[in-house]
Amino acid sequence: TIKIIMDTDPGIDDAAALTMALNDPEIDVKLITSVAGNVTVDKTTKNALKIVRFFNKKVPVAAGAKQPLIKEFEDAARIHGESGMPGYDFPEDLPKPLNMTAVEALRKTIMESDEKITLVPTGSFTNIALLFSEYPEVKDHIERIVAMGGSLGKGNMTSAAEFNVFTDPDAARIMYNSGIPITMVGLDITMKALLTPDSLSKLEHLNEAGKMLHDIVIHDGDNSLNGIAMHDVNTIFYLLHPEAIKTEKMWIDIVTDGPAIGETVGDIRGAYHDGKTNANVCVDIDAEAFNKWFLDEVSKINM
Ligand code: BDR
Ligand code: CA
Repeated sequence: TIKIIMDTDPGIDDAAALTMALNDPEIDVKLITSVAGNVTVDKTTKNALKIVRFFNKKVPVAAGAKQPLIKEFEDAARIHGESGMPGYDFPEDLPKPLNMTAVEALRKTIMESDEKITLVPTGSFTNIALLFSEYPEVKDHIERIVAMGGSLGKGNMTSAAEFNVFTDPDAARIMYNSGIPITMVGLDITMKALLTPDSLSKLEHLNEAGKMLHDIVIHDGDNSLNGIAMHDVNTIFYLLHPEAIKTEKMWIDIVTDGPAIGETVGDIRGAYHDGKTNANVCVDIDAEAFNKWFLDEVSKINM
């Protein structure tokens, strides 16, 4: 099994990524940490707890950063609704978050694990940056990072920037330059692997997990596309099915100021960084395989 920590800001697609990670037998979720992003951290923490409770899992949740390192916080409630996860009545009796911060919980879980951990951040990267700055020793105990964030093409927040990197570009820069192997799961594939209207209608009738996902996913505010982008879910798909995703190694620089703030600049010709690379960038995906896997995963959940 792949031992992972999810660092997340649920968020509709984060909720779907958590659903896959918590229920796939190949994945062992050791810890969930929350961060401010789609909505405030109080809400993202609560939403993570709702998903854990919904599936009756024992995975601990620790609350993380309230705001980016330097930049001012701006949420995405216009896409994800005021609660961040609207449309479904979750149980009210939620477990409590851990009595320690996300950074402390990350350090403890990583250092105490007998195997190296894979970090899967699907929100802004503030917790990860704080962790690496305060406890650099954890780096040797991390297998790799598979992060949703960035784009080689245009952004979804500004024309240059993807939302997670835009939210905290200074943190993204620290993460991309940490020296840990990192895979960038960005808009280049997540805008391709849309959940089709057909998949969505099938999802509703699979089982209660499918109904829950359907009911929240249809509230996604970005309905400009023929299907719904399940951004964060692509990280889990990549962990399980790397053969369905094409990647290229390159150097990724992060713009931290000016009109292109939050842009991930890929050295696509290898010229600027002398052929050196710091990331494995997802550039293409089998969208049909993604849809098939998505429905398949959910259909296997019994609760
Ligand atoms: C990312 O932004 C958030 O709104 C989504 O949850 C995803 O992590 C996509 O740009
Ligand atoms: Ca997210």
